[in-house]
Amino acid sequence: MAAERLDVIIFGATGFTGKYTIEEAVKLSQEKQFTWGIAGRRKEALEAVLKEHAPNRDDIPILIADASDLESLKKMTERAKVVVNCCGPYRFYGEPVIQACIDTRTHHVDVSGEPQFMERMQVEYGQKAKDAGVYIVSACGFDSIPCDLGIIFLQNKFNGEVNSVETYLSSWKTSNVGGAGMHYGTWETVIHEISHRNELRGLRSKLFPEKLPNLTPKLVPRGLAHKSSISEGWSTKFPGADKSTALRTQYFLFQNYKQRPAQVQTYITFKSIFALFATAIVGVMVTLMTKFECGKQLLLKHPKFFTAGFVSHEGPKPEAMNNTHFAITFKATGWTEALAEPTDAHTGPPNKEMITKVTGVNPGYGATCTAVMTAALTILKEADKMPDNGGVLPPGAAFGKTSIIEELNKHGLKFEVISSIEK
Ligand SMILES: NC(=O)c1ccc[n+]([C@@H]2O[C@H](COP(=O)([O-])OP(=O)(O)OC[C@H]3O[C@@H](n4cnc5c(N)ncnc54)[C@H](OP(=O)(O)O)[C@@H]3O)[C@@H](O)[C@H]2O)c1
Repeated sequence: MAAERLDVIIFGATGFTGKYTIEEAVKLSQEKQFTWGIAGRRKEALEAVLKEHAPNRDDIPILIADASDLESLKKMTERAKVVVNCCGPYRFYGEPVIQACIDTRTHHVDVSGEPQFMERMQVEYGQKAKDAGVYIVSACGFDSIPCDLGIIFLQNKFNGEVNSVETYLSSWKTSNVGGAGMHYGTWETVIHEISHRNELRGLRSKLFPEKLPNLTPKLVPRGLAHKSSISEGWSTKFPGADKSTALRTQYFLFQNYKQRPAQVQTYITFKSIFALFATAIVGVMVTLMTKFECGKQLLLKHPKFFTAGFVSHEGPKPEAMNNTHFAITFKATGWTEALAEPTDAHTGPPNKEMITKVTGVNPGYGATCTAVMTAALTILKEADKMPDNGGVLPPGAAFGKTSIIEELNKHGLKFEVISSIEK
């Protein structure tokens, strides 16, 4: 790659996520050597955001690029080794940035939590990215680094063979600072994602052409509302991108390393059954409304009303974000012995259980920005430990053999083993 390239360019830097990613770049560049710049479509807004979030850094270059103009994107991506793309919804703006990165041989990470977008990009650009020798890694934010790499961490610590993993996400506040919990950009993304959920079915047969081995015992999904011994409160299926991402990673491990893939179910825990049902009712109402164009427009126009103030155009206040904590608890069952082939069947029932956890603060705009910047720096430093010399990959597949978990542990995302029992 040309010597004059910057190590990292943050594209979509004027957005809510983009500006906190700038802050993360400022922090990380105080301890690590890397060059970086910011990019977007509005020069004055970029100058203002730099002044506010990277004061005293008038050495940071600003590049102008618009997602609707491929040539302007290429002029931007050819100036970087890795593009950190914070410009979403990715369904609308993501594809040309990936095209430009492949054309100019630039690595790409983003914070998409949109399974349709990510799976389609893997199907359509996987081979092209490999041919160009670049890594295109989506889901490098809270969706889904903690879950996907949390499963990799667990598999590495298990010392045997994992049959299944159940993950439980919970989040809580340590202060009563009110206001929104989510910025409008994520809400917009979620609404479009829900309304196109049916696209996934067609993609899966292209994404997973090889049949997985018959994994037994089968991991049976738990009920609509259930209590788990590893997560206090009431839990239900987690509708986010974590499961889609984890499945892609597990499939990759099977195909590329002949590793037995773990069966995965993802859940979210609420403090009370009332909170679970209230959220479920809002979820059902939103899903139904997205089926109609006028319903979708209403949701996009009045986010505060439909989420009782949880979503706003201003986004959450820093005090609220910094007092929001999360934990994902993982429960794995499996065997103390690994068999030679992933298709071999164990003769006895699982005889080992392990519980692990990933914890952190400010999932949406703290852990997310730390994770995506750490992902970018990992590509710069450890591409030799990444697979296939390029490709469109989920984070677990891309970074599973690098030191990213150790790096994240140093920067506020804690991966730990809670218990391990052999029966
Ligand atoms: N994975 C996670 O956990 C996680 C966490 C946070 C956010 N996200 C995702 O990150 C994305 C951004 O969210 P956000 O709240 O930061 O949104 P936002 O504040 O609306 O930011 C969107 C950014 O995209 C830029 N943009 C839009 N259209 C563009 C175009 N045609 N050309 C160039 N730039 C363009 C905007 O630039 P202008 O300022 O010029 O409009 C802005 O910088 C969403 O998809 C969200 O779901 C994911």
